[in-house]
Amino acid sequence: MGVQPFLEIEGLSKRFGGLQAVDNVGFSMGRNEILGMIGPNGAGKTTVLRLITGILKPDSGGIHFKGKKIVGRKTWNIVNLGIACTFQNMRPFRRLPIIANVMVSCLSPRAMKRGEWVKRVEAKAMDALEFAGISDMALEKASTLSQGDLKRLEVARAIATEPELLLLDEPFGGLSPAETDLMAKSMKRLHKGGRFGRLHSEGPAMIIVEHKLQQLMKIVNRIIVLNFGIIIADGTPEEVVNNPQVIEAYLGQGGT
Ligand SMILES: Nc1ncnc2c1ncn2[C@@H]1O[C@H](COP(=O)(O)OP(=O)(O)O)[C@@H](O)[C@H]1O
Ligand SMILES: [Mg+2]
Repeated sequence: MGVQPFLEIEGLSKRFGGLQAVDNVGFSMGRNEILGMIGPNGAGKTTVLRLITGILKPDSGGIHFKGKKIVGRKTWNIVNLGIACTFQNMRPFRRLPIIANVMVSCLSPRAMKRGEWVKRVEAKAMDALEFAGISDMALEKASTLSQGDLKRLEVARAIATEPELLLLDEPFGGLSPAETDLMAKSMKRLHKGGRFGRLHSEGPAMIIVEHKLQQLMKIVNRIIVLNFGIIIADGTPEEVVNNPQVIEAYLGQGGT
């Protein structure tokens, strides 16, 4: 057998009524990659992430994660294989304290497999909040959070499952330039791996969907560009921003 790619996507398609949201998308990525994904609004970026996490089922195509077929599996099963994601539209348990939102992730079988008992879960959730930069608000209700802090809560919830592949849907959305810088730094730190309190990160691979291209380019080593559900470019940040098709589809339209 040949070398198994970490993530391999082939011929992925998804239609909503008359709209081909994702059209024969294929790419693979390695264990140590940070991949950016850009494209105009409606290009199908969020749909690709939702197909990977099992929230949506593709009409056709295959997704393999570490050699395992994941199309058709339930989302909880995919999380336990080591894929976590954050959402563009955040939906925390609003009436629960912020820390309880993260404790739910810490209770996933994947995160609990190290034989921890429930009391430790709280400490671990706190570490995830600290990593995301909102530990000082741990006991407040999630409904009190600003847009930017909701983004951080999303990140804390995702990393608390100790993923090997982290999918981030517009992680800089709603953040100020200073906050964006901080978030970008946290991501680089996370990717490098190490110990963050009780979280043992092996440094997840990442797919980052983002509009803030300049920030994204500082983090990723490769960018995939989607337009009308089709991959129109896949290369280094430099290759992609100089690609005439990309400039026409995206950058020329005031994308930043
Ligand atoms: N659940 C859905 N039902 C119907 N249409 C959808 C649904 N989700 C997304 N779409 C449509 O599919 C296209 C791609 O959406 P999306 O993946 O959210 O794009 P992006 O994240 O790149 O902005 C858009 O035209 C969007 O309106
Ligand atoms: Mg989207």
